Amino acid sequence: MRSCHLRDLISDQNRIEMLSFDEGNLFFDFSKQLVSSETIGLLTDLAERAGLTSQIAQLFEGKFINRSENRPALHTALRMPTNSRVEVEGQDVIPIIQASHERAFDFADRIRAKQWLGATGQPISSVVNIGIGGSHLGPYMAYKALRSYSDNSIDCRFISNVDPRDLNTNLSSLDPETTLFIVNSKSFTTSETLTNAESAMEWVEKNLGENPEILQKHFVAVTANKEKAERYGFTPDNIYPIWEWVGGRFSISSATSLALMVAVGPEYFKTMNEGCQQMDQHFQSSDLNENIPALMGLIGIWNRNFLGYSSHAVIPYAYDLAAFPAYLEQLEMESNGKNIDNEGNLVMYETGPSILGGVGTNAQHAIFQYLHQGTTIIPVDFIAFVNPSPSKGTIGKDVVMRQHEALIANCFAQSQGLAIGDTEGGRSLSSDGNRPSSTILASRLDPFTLGQLIALYEHKVFTMGALWQINSFDQWGVELGKSLVSNVSNDLAGISTSTGHDSSTRSLIDQFHQRKDKI
Ligand code: F6P
Repeated sequence: MRSCHLRDLISDQNRIEMLSFDEGNLFFDFSKQLVSSETIGLLTDLAERAGLTSQIAQLFEGKFINRSENRPALHTALRMPTNSRVEVEGQDVIPIIQASHERAFDFADRIRAKQWLGATGQPISSVVNIGIGGSHLGPYMAYKALRSYSDNSIDCRFISNVDPRDLNTNLSSLDPETTLFIVNSKSFTTSETLTNAESAMEWVEKNLGENPEILQKHFVAVTANKEKAERYGFTPDNIYPIWEWVGGRFSISSATSLALMVAVGPEYFKTMNEGCQQMDQHFQSSDLNENIPALMGLIGIWNRNFLGYSSHAVIPYAYDLAAFPAYLEQLEMESNGKNIDNEGNLVMYETGPSILGGVGTNAQHAIFQYLHQGTTIIPVDFIAFVNPSPSKGTIGKDVVMRQHEALIANCFAQSQGLAIGDTEGGRSLSSDGNRPSSTILASRLDPFTLGQLIALYEHKVFTMGALWQINSFDQWGVELGKSLVSNVSNDLAGISTSTGHDSSTRSLIDQFHQRKDKI
């Protein structure tokens, strides 16, 4: 009986060739996954029977695949070539997207050229994105990832939490005369964002005095709800549109990334979108057995539904990608954390895994004990870059290279250790190995490569949802918490004493009142 332990499997050179792939400037090593070529063949057969190829076509064509909200999911249209045509209800959306991008690029260029003046005539030098979820995580992740591509001419900040510490910490080091806020909300109804926006407006008015130009010169909006933004006082020329047919967590290629465009400039944003487009075209046109996002999704199905692994870890070995796991948490868990299928029935199988992650090498000193010796196996995606990002720091090139090579050595060693284990050290020191991982290797973390990675995971998520026959593009589960908060808020504020609370919540509210101001 041939051993199925990874330590034996990965010694086979044929396996490496069979389970490694080059796509764009990315190299994918799936050889440390607990699959064989037979497994892959069975999974692609399963995908064909599930109609994945047809569902991919429907995604790109703008079919109303988001059935519960009766709309398409056209994040791919955001980065299609300008000569493309995609219709939504009879209207070609490509020209609309291009016009929005041009307006956003013009805004970014004006800010970066210090041509946008505040209410007191000072040029804007700080831009603050106020948003949460997909209106924060994607732009923030990309801003951090592309820091070395920013000329830092504009100080960019991100405020997302309703915790006043977020707002206060940022505003305390900003000058209201030279600060512009981007109120970033697809729905323009998200309470945290509107609360932060109102507090920011009060802060500007308190410092600049009553000035009718404050809103016009210190605030712009990114939203799909133009009417709501106008009711807030935003004028059309200060509203940068996104659309109902793009999911918030899938909107990074749109004006949702306005702050990113300011930070790195429109050209690098366009290059990021070109990277997304390259992976889009690969996903749209490749046979399933060579289709990387599809294969990652199918391996995810294998790990989740056949091997029973309930979590999935993503560990980028790149300081600048530290925000990537949190971005993926929303992308994967808000998309596929579903227990109802497209027909409205309770699913009778597992769906989305829980996503965790951290940046390498730090994660080695936090979760890798669990990954090596825990009783629960968690498959890992390692992401690494052969060359360091362009650094403007003070340390010499030789130091950069020495430390970067140490970073990559750690990445490769960890995936090796997870696979082969160590049975020499006696029980407590031993790791049984046979713990699956994939490694994604790129030349460098640059805008194009980041775009490829973004689209790669978007399409991996789509693949898994398609096989599970769930809607990866709605998020009804977040509504319950939102509906309960107003009652609790009123009780905490002493406005009302709701009798409807369960005893636990009632006890917590009572504790709040007993402890409030007792510090
Ligand atoms: O978490 C729920 C959610 O609706 C996400 O899907 C969305 O990205 C986030 O809240 C923010 O929504 P909006 O961009 O409408 O403020």
